[in-house]
Amino acid sequence: MARKKLIQFEANQHADNILQPGKPLFDNVKGNWHKDFFKNNNPLVVELACGRGEYTTGLAKVFPEKNFVGVDIKGNRIWTGSQVAIKNNLPNVGFLRTQIQSLENFFAEGEIAEIWLTFPDPRPKGRDEHRRLTHERFLNMYRRLLQKDGFFNFKTDNAGLFAYSLAEILRYPLSYFTYTHHLYKSPLNELHYGISTNYEEKFVSKGHIVQYFKASF
Ligand SMILES: C[S@@+](CC[C@H](N)C(=O)[O-])C[C@H]1O[C@@H](n2cnc3c(N)ncnc32)[C@H](O)[C@@H]1O
Repeated sequence: MARKKLIQFEANQHADNILQPGKPLFDNVKGNWHKDFFKNNNPLVVELACGRGEYTTGLAKVFPEKNFVGVDIKGNRIWTGSQVAIKNNLPNVGFLRTQIQSLENFFAEGEIAEIWLTFPDPRPKGRDEHRRLTHERFLNMYRRLLQKDGFFNFKTDNAGLFAYSLAEILRYPLSYFTYTHHLYKSPLNELHYGISTNYEEKFVSKGHIVQYFKASF
C-alpha cells in the first residue's frame, strides 16, 4: 500500500471524529449518536457516499446547531474530511467508515433527521441496478432510518441515474417533493450554500449538468 495511505489510515485510528472497525464505540453507536458521540441532542444529518465529506463539513460550518456524519467505505477519502473538521474546529462532525448496506447496524429507526446522497457511483449496467444507492432496497432503508418528516436529498451529474432515481422515489407516497434538472439555474441551489464536491467539480468542468431532488417520505 502507498505510504501516504498508510499514514492516513494510522491517523484515522487516532482521530476522535472517525468511527471505524476496532474503535470501542463502533459496535455500540446505533441509537447512541446523541448520547455517546456528539453528547448533545441536536438533529443528526448524514451524508452517504460522502467521499471527502464536502457536505458534512460544509453544512456543519453553516449549521453549528446540527450534527453531521459522513459515511463512506474509503478510509483515505474520510481522512480528508476528518482533517478539514479538525482544522476548522468543527465538534459537530463525525465520519463513519462502513458499507452503506450496513447502515442499520449503526443508526436506529428514526434516528436521522436528514440524509444527503451526493454523487454516488452511477452503476449504469442493468445487472448492477440493485447496487445503485437509490435502488428500492436502499430507499426503504433510508425511510426507516429517517425521522418522521425527515428529508432525503439526492444530487448527481449522471442523467441516467437521476432519471432512474426520480422514478424510484416517486413510487412512494411523499409528503414533500421538489426537484430540478439544472441545479445551478434553479432557486433550489440556495439549499446548497455554495458547497460542491470533488466529483462535482471534476464533472462540471467537463460540461455535465447537476440535478437534484429533495423528498420527505
Ligand atoms: C463517485 S464518489 C462521490 C464522492 C463524493 N460524494 C463526491 O461527490 O465527491 C462515490 C463514493 O461512494 C463511496 N461508496 C460507493 N459505494 C459505497 C457503499 N456501498 N458503501 C459506502 N461507500 C460507498 C465510494 O467510496 C466513493 O467515495
